[in-house]
This record gives sequence, C-alpha cells and structure tokens, in this order.
Amino acid sequence: MKIEYFHASKFGNGARVAEEFKKQMTVKGVAVNVHHIRNVRPKELAPADLYVFSSPGRIGKPIGSVRRFLKKIAIAPGAKYAILTTESAPQPDKKTGKMPTEEERTKWQRVRPIMNEMLKAKGLEKVAEGHVLVTSMKGPLEEGWQKKVEDFAARISQEG
Ligand SMILES: Cc1cc2nc3c(=O)[nH]c(=O)nc-3n(C[C@H](O)[C@H](O)[C@H](O)COP(=O)(O)O)c2cc1C
Repeated sequence: MKIEYFHASKFGNGARVAEEFKKQMTVKGVAVNVHHIRNVRPKELAPADLYVFSSPGRIGKPIGSVRRFLKKIAIAPGAKYAILTTESAPQPDKKTGKMPTEEERTKWQRVRPIMNEMLKAKGLEKVAEGHVLVTSMKGPLEEGWQKKVEDFAARISQEG
C-alpha cells in the first residue's frame, strides 16, 4: 500500500500531524509521501492506493489554497481518499461565555463537508475521515492528538 498525503499547513500543526501519520504508518509497513500542496502540481499527482487530504480551517471552510487545489486535482474516479483536518477547538461565545451547541457548530464549521463534496464530485471514494483540534488559532495541537492520529492510522490500515 502506498499513500500520498497532501496538506496546506500554515502554522505547522497540520505538518506535525502529517509527520506523525507517516511515522505510524511506516511502523505498519506502509509508505507515506507527505507533500505541502504548494510544492505539487494538482494535475500531476503520483499514483497511490490512497490519497489523504488535510486542510486548516478558515472561517468555516478549508483554507482557500486547498479549495483551489481540490478543484484542479486530476485523479481517476474510483480512487480512494481520506481526510484529516486541523480545526480550532470550540471556544465560548465572547459575550455570553456559552459554548456553541453541536448544532451551531456543525452549521458553521464546514471544513470537512466542503472537502468531501469536492472530492466526491471527482468520483473519489472516502475510506476515512478525522480531525485534530488546535487549542487556539495558531496551535498548539490538543492534548492527546497523537492518539487521534493513531486511531485514524488504524482505520486506514484496515482498508489496506
Ligand atoms: C483567520 C483564521 C481563521 C480560522 N478559521 C477557522 C475555522 O473557521 N474553523 C476552524 O476549525 N479553524 C479555523 N482557524 C484555525 C485553523 O484551523 C488553525 O489555524 C489551523 O488548523 C492550524 O493548522 P496549521 O498550523 O497547519 O496551519 C482559523 C485560523 C485563522 C488564522
């Protein structure tokens, strides 16, 4: 099994998640090539058994460069993909001090749904989806984030 992993980390959290994933998959005997999307031509992606896409969130959406990248990618329909994002941990409302409800959060936070829509429109098939929280806008990653990556890696290796 060979995995190509594409991220668009700006502050380094998503890049750390990608490296941790690579490390954990390597132990399982799976090769993972990690790329920042700025170094990749979206129409010339290397062949892979699985493509993993990772994006930081921006105002409820994937960061703009990821949206442009996903619009352009050329991957044969039927190829497998997985998503692993970094997203900000829920914060209390500045005025009321209340935490957003699950419903409010899902309405506003559309990072993964947008990525799924774009990838499914290309005919790709999802095998796993995960997210790791960052405790404030620029990080650091939440406590125990490695465990989340481990769970994600376990789901992926079941697919192989
Ligand atoms: C201007 C701005 C807007 C953001 N908006 C969101 C958002 O809507 N949803 C979210 O989950 N995270 C949001 N974040 C937090 C990012 O998810 C976080 O910065 C990112 O995951 C960190 O990953 P990186 O270090 O790989 O860049 C925002 C961050 C910035 C700077």
